[in-house]
Amino acid sequence: MEKGIQLETKYLKGFVSEEDLAAIFPEVKNAHSLLISKNGLGKGFLGWVDLPAETSEDTLKEIEECAEKMRRCSDLIIVVGIGGSYLGARAVIEMLASDEDKEKIFFAGNNLCGEHLEKLLDMIRNGDRDVTVNVISKSGTTTEPAVAFRLIEDALEKKYGAAGLKDRIVCTTDKKKGALKKLADSAGYRSFVIPDDTGGRFSVLTPVGLLPASCAGINISDLVDGAARCAEEVSVCDLDKNPAYKYAAIRNILYRKGKVIEVLANFDYKLHFIAEWWKQLFGESEGKAGRSIFPAACDFTSDLHSMGQLMQQGERNIFETFIIEENEKLYCKVPANEKNLDDLNYLKGKSLSFINKQAYSATCEAHFEGGVPNSTIVISERSASNLGALFYFFEKAVAISAYISGVNPFDQPGVEAYKTKMFKLLGKPGNN
Ligand code: PA5
Repeated sequence: MEKGIQLETKYLKGFVSEEDLAAIFPEVKNAHSLLISKNGLGKGFLGWVDLPAETSEDTLKEIEECAEKMRRCSDLIIVVGIGGSYLGARAVIEMLASDEDKEKIFFAGNNLCGEHLEKLLDMIRNGDRDVTVNVISKSGTTTEPAVAFRLIEDALEKKYGAAGLKDRIVCTTDKKKGALKKLADSAGYRSFVIPDDTGGRFSVLTPVGLLPASCAGINISDLVDGAARCAEEVSVCDLDKNPAYKYAAIRNILYRKGKVIEVLANFDYKLHFIAEWWKQLFGESEGKAGRSIFPAACDFTSDLHSMGQLMQQGERNIFETFIIEENEKLYCKVPANEKNLDDLNYLKGKSLSFINKQAYSATCEAHFEGGVPNSTIVISERSASNLGALFYFFEKAVAISAYISGVNPFDQPGVEAYKTKMFKLLGKPGNN
């Protein structure tokens, strides 16, 4: 049985007091009421709240069957999408898929880098690998995935002929609207629906994240079950019993004390894309009305040798949140060496994982002493169930955190500003 998510707060001492927590609690309670009564800002986008509990066996089976078919008829699966239609799937796959499965999955449409896409198109045109595609876009109109998909579809048509496309393309999009929906219907592509009431960055546990995850051989029932388990655990409005609410409260307390940057740090490179997903979730949900905690990320210990100096002695406007696995597997025991020319015999018999754990403990203490309050989110181990729980933990935390700071967690009006200017430059009809 998986252990729930734990939040360790020892290194907040002197930065966040019991009195601070008691003082902010009425605001947490208010945020909780807004969320539970579905009366807060963005109330039309609360589908994610009950999603894990409401996801049926049949839905999961349908996704798994489609993924199985895609796996059977391809050695290369391309996932096209950006932002909320990309980062969750990438986080799941990077953390949990086997190296062999990872090699089969390619991501496209998450940038406008021509060289990257050209290489992929070359693989379709000239390679002997069979290809299937899952194109994901809620609005169905986002430029990056739309342009990438047009090019990929064109290359696939040349490879398999127009008649072959239906077996190779799966769309994940809105039930009714958007260009992708229109295109899917007219071409007869298989489609999965993104629920209306679940925004992009909250959609990882819908087909948006579940289909690519299943294509990479990941147990999606475990992902959803883990999220459902966490939903129970973070339902109570009590800071001692609900780690998501405590995390949300701590962030706001620290923000009000001038800690305006949060660094989410890991000691395992496989968690890198969790932080990428988290950056979008928190950045897009909270960064509005002239207020925000800037969500940044570090991969330790690598970044201790680049960002470590700043973390230790730069401007004291940072707080840190670590994600740690409690029962990390022990890899790579350091062998004894008679000559000991590298002076490493003091480590003989110790695993690299053990050394990494000591690096984590040392970093918590050193950064704390340097004026960086930090807390740690502990998961028992790297598993689909724990990752599902972690996704839900952060979703609930950001909703409460944004309501505490009085903003709508579920919209992103600011994203339109650059798009309007870009469309004007590109001469998109209706944008002059
Ligand atoms: O969270 C969001 O809503 C955005 O980041 C979107 O996910 C992103 O812009 C992609 O949008 P779409 O799925 O409509 O292509």
